[in-house]
Amino acid sequence: MSDNNRVIIFDTTLRDGEQSPGASMTRDEKLRVARQLEKMRVDVIEAGFAIASPGDFESVKAIAELVKDSTVCSLSRALDADIDRAGEALKNANSGRIHTFIATSPIHMQYKLQMPPEKVIAQAVHAVKRARNLTGDVEFSLEDASRSELDFMCRIIEQVIDAGARTINIPDTVGYAVPEEFGHTIGQLITRIPNADKAIFSVHCHNDLGLAVANSLAAVNAGARQVECTINGLGERAGNASLEEFVMALRTRKDVLGLETGIDTTQIVPASRLISSVTGFPVQPNKAIVGANAFAHESGIHQDGVLKHRETYEIMTAESVGWSANKMVLGKHSGRAAFRSRLEELGTTFATDAELNEAFGRFKVLADKKHEIFDEDLIALVSDTRAVASSEHFNLISLSVTSQTGETPLAQMTVEVDGTEMQAQAEGSGPVDAVFKAIEAIANSGAGLQLYSVNAVTEGTDSQGEVTVRLEKGGRIVNGLGADTDVIIASARAYIHALNMLHANIEKAHPQV
Ligand code: KIV
Ligand code: ZN
Repeated sequence: MSDNNRVIIFDTTLRDGEQSPGASMTRDEKLRVARQLEKMRVDVIEAGFAIASPGDFESVKAIAELVKDSTVCSLSRALDADIDRAGEALKNANSGRIHTFIATSPIHMQYKLQMPPEKVIAQAVHAVKRARNLTGDVEFSLEDASRSELDFMCRIIEQVIDAGARTINIPDTVGYAVPEEFGHTIGQLITRIPNADKAIFSVHCHNDLGLAVANSLAAVNAGARQVECTINGLGERAGNASLEEFVMALRTRKDVLGLETGIDTTQIVPASRLISSVTGFPVQPNKAIVGANAFAHESGIHQDGVLKHRETYEIMTAESVGWSANKMVLGKHSGRAAFRSRLEELGTTFATDAELNEAFGRFKVLADKKHEIFDEDLIALVSDTRAVASSEHFNLISLSVTSQTGETPLAQMTVEVDGTEMQAQAEGSGPVDAVFKAIEAIANSGAGLQLYSVNAVTEGTDSQGEVTVRLEKGGRIVNGLGADTDVIIASARAYIHALNMLHANIEKAHPQV
C-alpha cells in the first residue's frame, strides 16, 4: 500500500483521556502508558498540556526524553506562553510536535473568546508562526469545527498552512456530527482549500452521540489521514473515538476501506488493561475489542459454529488484538525473575529494586491465598502496590470489621496520619459503609463519594476484588484504587488512596476553559 493509504494514529489518552473526571495519572503512570503506546507503534503520542501545571510540564518533558520511536506532542492554546512552555517541554524530543488550537465556531468566538473572526484568524496565524520557530512539526486545530462555518474554516486553514502548520485537525469537539455530514465537510475542505496538499488533514471526534468511530471512518473515507483517538475511548465527557475500534475496523474491513495503520494490534489488550488499571475506569464487558465478552460465545449455536469453523461467528481473532487465553501464568513457586518478566510482557516495569521487591512480596502473599495467579491478578496487584506506595499522608495500619445477621456492621481501624497513628470505629448500613465512616471519623475530609465500584479481577470466589472509589471536593475529582482478595480491605485501601490524591491538591488548568 502506498503512504497515501496509511492513516496516522495520534493517541491522546494522556491529554484528552486525562480530562475525564477522575482519570488523572501520575508522572510515573504516564511514563508507563507512553512506553506501552510506543510499543504499540502509535505514530503520535499527545503527552499532555504542558502549561496546565508544573506536574504536566514535567510529564511531557519526561515522555519526550523517554520515547524514541513515536512523535511526542504537547497541546497549547494559541497563546505565546502556552506555545513557549510546550516548546520547552519538548526540546529534548527525538521528534516533537506542538499542537495549538483556537475555537472557530460562531458560538465559541462570540461567547467564549469574545473575539471577532478576523482577530481569531490573526491569533491563529501568529501562534502557528511562533510554534514553527520552536519545531518543524506544528499541528493546528479548529476547536468546535463541526459547528463552524465552512467558508470561515477554509479561510483560516489556508492561512495557517501558509504560516507553517503541517497537520490541520478538524475536531468534533461536542460530539455533534453525524458520519455523512462530517465526511462531506472533510471532503469539501480538502477540495476547496488551495494549499490543502501541503498539510495532512486530521480528525478528533468526541462520542456524545456514540458516533466518534463512525465519524472518524467517514473522515478517512473522505481523505483525512490522521485520526486522534484514545485507548478504551477515554476522554472528556462521553470520551473520544476509541483507538482499538477504529484500528480494528480499518484492519478488518480493508476490503472496503483500503486503508491501514502502523499499529501492532497485539498490543491493544495490554494497553487497554494498563489504562483501566491506572485510571480505575473499568472496561464494560461488552465493549468492542477489549471487553471481557468481546470474543466469548455464549449461545450453543454460536459455540457449535465456532468449533466447526471459527469464521462462522468471528470476524477477527482474539489473538490478533492481544487476548491470551485466561490462563494461569504464575504460582506460589514462581521466582522474582519470572514475576518481573511476565509483568514486563504486560507493559509494566519497575523503576527501582525496592519497588520490585515490594510488589513481589505482595505476590507471594497473594499466591498463598490464591493458587492460580492470572495476568489480571498481576496487574491489579501492581496498581494496588503503587497506590499504597504513593500514600504519603494517610496510611492504613489495621482494620477489623464485624458483620453478622441481625446486627449493625461495625468497623474498627487504625490509620496513620502524617506519621501519627489514629484510631476510630463506626457503624454503617453495611461493612463498606462502616469502614468509610470510620476513615472519615479520622480524616474528616469533607469529600463527597461519587462512585464506589468493585470488579472481580478473575473468575471464582477466590478472585481479587478491584475497588474504585471516586471522591469529589471543591470541584476536584479523584479516583482511588485498591485490590485484595478481601473486598473490604480493598475498599479501605481505595478510599485511603483517593484521600491521599485529594490531599496532594494538584492545581491544573483545563485547556478549553
Ligand atoms: O475536543 C477538542 O476540540 C479538543 C481540541 C483541543 C483538539 O480536544
Ligand atoms: Zn477533545
